Amino acid sequence: MATRSDTRDNKSSDRRTERKHSSSDGSAFSFGSSANTGPLLGALAAGAVIGVGANWARKFLMQKSASMAAGNQWDEILKLEHKATLATFDTLLATDDNETGKRATLVKKLSYALEKHAHQEENVVYPALRQANETVDADHLEHEHGYVKTYLYELDNMPKDSPEFLVRVREFRNLIAEHARMEEDQVYPRFKNEISEEQNKKITALMNKEGMKML
Ligand SMILES: [Fe+2]
Ligand SMILES: [Fe+2]
Repeated sequence: MATRSDTRDNKSSDRRTERKHSSSDGSAFSFGSSANTGPLLGALAAGAVIGVGANWARKFLMQKSASMAAGNQWDEILKLEHKATLATFDTLLATDDNETGKRATLVKKLSYALEKHAHQEENVVYPALRQANETVDADHLEHEHGYVKTYLYELDNMPKDSPEFLVRVREFRNLIAEHARMEEDQVYPRFKNEISEEQNKKITALMNKEGMKML
């Protein structure tokens, strides 16, 4: 785990070395403005028709309304997810050692939220960053996601009444808060300034589509 701070020490000097702006003609993130939620609405209708989609449809509508609440902007959606995840951490930190069932449920909730979030970033946002020559930041952020999985693994397998449990949760929360701050305050605003409105819409549509796969 010590490597987290090691990598962070390197980041400021290295991060901006290769940043050449690219509007990326031919980029997967630069074509057409036709991407929207049409296919998803079609899938929703199909799910309803075959009668297997009630729960999925409910999640779809929740996802859609969260996206609308964030102005259908990929970075605002991610910001809201960061906020909700940190709130779940705070609920977990307020539990006692005898609330083992509640702790297990909250770890599952965290796990679901973080896996969905990472899937969206790793399959759309970080690749788009790399295409815009933001490779150093994308690699750093994805490396940290590896430690997110490690903490989830540990918490899932640790006795929920262990005196170590909240210690690990607190460390984990610090990692997430710092990671989210780097995304929200540095990487995403800079990247968003570099891309066109069309690319921005494309990334939002692709990210929502990836999020739907995790419902
Ligand atoms: Fe991330
Ligand atoms: Fe994030």
